[in-house]
Amino acid sequence: MTHKIVTLAGDGIGPEIMAAGLQVLEAVAEKIDFDYALEAKAFGGAGIDAAGHPLPQDTLDAAKEADAILLAAIGSPQYDNAPVRPEQGLLAIRKELNLFANIRPVKIFDALKHLSPLKAERIEGVDFVVVRELTGGIYFGDHILEVDKARDINDYSAEEIRRIMVKAFEIAQGRGKKVTSIDKQNVLATSKLWRQVADEVAKDYPDVTLEHQLVDSAAMIMITNPARFDVVVTENLFGDILSDESSVLPGTLGVMPSASHSADGPSLYEPIHGSAPDIAGQGVANPISMILSVAMMLRDSFGENAGAAMIEKAVDATLAAGVLTRDIGGTASTAEMTAAIIANL
Ligand code: IPM
Ligand code: MG
Repeated sequence: MTHKIVTLAGDGIGPEIMAAGLQVLEAVAEKIDFDYALEAKAFGGAGIDAAGHPLPQDTLDAAKEADAILLAAIGSPQYDNAPVRPEQGLLAIRKELNLFANIRPVKIFDALKHLSPLKAERIEGVDFVVVRELTGGIYFGDHILEVDKARDINDYSAEEIRRIMVKAFEIAQGRGKKVTSIDKQNVLATSKLWRQVADEVAKDYPDVTLEHQLVDSAAMIMITNPARFDVVVTENLFGDILSDESSVLPGTLGVMPSASHSADGPSLYEPIHGSAPDIAGQGVANPISMILSVAMMLRDSFGENAGAAMIEKAVDATLAAGVLTRDIGGTASTAEMTAAIIANL
């Protein structure tokens, strides 16, 4: 069976790291006999340039028909004050494909430990997953801006909370069996419902421990004792903030992948970092987050666990061997890093 993968290279360093990710995919596919077909589509600033919209209709149609979607990066200073911005494409594709579950693994690479802003003893054993609700909450409520007042509506239905909670518990079952649900229950009605649903869902997973944390203290724990987290689940806005906080623990954004899942449609995989316009086109971007996004795709969308593990091990080995791009203290180019990872497969 041929798996259909839609690729959205986007802007800035996007096309360079996408090329790297696809080279690794090609090399692994040969080893594991994975049959796939690629379809490249315009998205983000590239979508605006091609079709006047960051998510052109033709891109959306292809994405809906895909078995999985790989996205590299979007955004460009050229659109900073434009009426239509690349980021709108991101929100639109999340909503259109119902990608309600955003998964961001946070782990420390042995070879990069020294880059973490935290002291060595604080990052010892850090290995957790942020599960962010991605299609509800304040992001998608009404945004009302008047001359001298403004309002943003935060809406959650119990069902929206339940499905992200189920995702978090399922992930926890395959890991450390602990869920930390984060809310602001001492103030917000949506958070009171959030906590109630979390407690209900927990009953179906007796092997998993549930703890609740308020978002402000969770932000502190993430810096003072991040090793205590296993699976962190939270609403859209808190997840946006906390996932950025968590992403600095490994000391670089350049190595972190993510996945966004719907209930039954195609999932989308992307690096957590942006399009880095300052280094675009120079061939020096770190391709690892894109390459690890390919690994996540192989595992989550296609059940190709061996292929995924092969990529992850090759990345570990390459970093351990001291092949490092500029952002992580080395001099390797994107092409050199990619070639080294392929050689280590
Ligand atoms: C992210 C980004 C987006 C978000 C922006 C670009 C709209 O920060 O994916 O975390 O806030 O969700
Ligand atoms: Mg964000």
